[in-house]
Amino acid sequence: MKIKIAILASGNGSNFEALAKSVKKFRGKVKLEMLITDKKNAYVRKRATRLGIPDFFLDPKKFKTPLALDKEIFKLLKKKNINYVLLAGYMRFLSPFLIKKFENRILNIHPSLLPAFKGGCAIKDAYRHGVKITGVTIHFADEHIDNGPIILQKPVRVKEGWSPEELEKAIHRLEHRLYPQALKIVVEKRFRVRGRRVDVFPAI
Ligand code: GAR
Repeated sequence: MKIKIAILASGNGSNFEALAKSVKKFRGKVKLEMLITDKKNAYVRKRATRLGIPDFFLDPKKFKTPLALDKEIFKLLKKKNINYVLLAGYMRFLSPFLIKKFENRILNIHPSLLPAFKGGCAIKDAYRHGVKITGVTIHFADEHIDNGPIILQKPVRVKEGWSPEELEKAIHRLEHRLYPQALKIVVEKRFRVRGRRVDVFPAI
């Protein structure tokens, strides 16, 4: 049976594109059904058009509450029988409603070694803090921001003299490798969640 995925993104979409390209390697077993975005002018929409992936813009201003927006997202996901949702720079809090409906089926990428530097400016925050090592985390989403059980985590060493932009580039390079790797683990069902712990097999 084909595994169907949806990506939620709000911005540039470099991770969306990396995932879209990686899906082709599954030779039809996995399908990227749609992009859902909350930002009308997000560059990720242009990428979706170029790659031939349907995109849906839901204007948060048109919904009375965040829950109402998430209910509409859920409708879209149900209509297409989506199995997994990947957050790729989706800068919005997900309601417990959506998290429960897709328990351990929503993945998120975050540009730090969680639980350090949660939030929307993780790369800059880590740089300003002067860390020597930071990295990338892929985790299942739960009802708290950048918090759920960790699937994969890899470090980036901050080299002497690097600018924030150089660090950002290195983080993005790693993200574009790591997110497809996590997707592969998940669609091949090579994981088990035990509380906060995600066992991946064969072990990485
Ligand atoms: C990525 O660096 C991702 O890790 C981050 O947003 C960026 C999106 O870039 N996500 C978070 O900070 C989540 N808290 P992209 O639009 O080029 O994929």
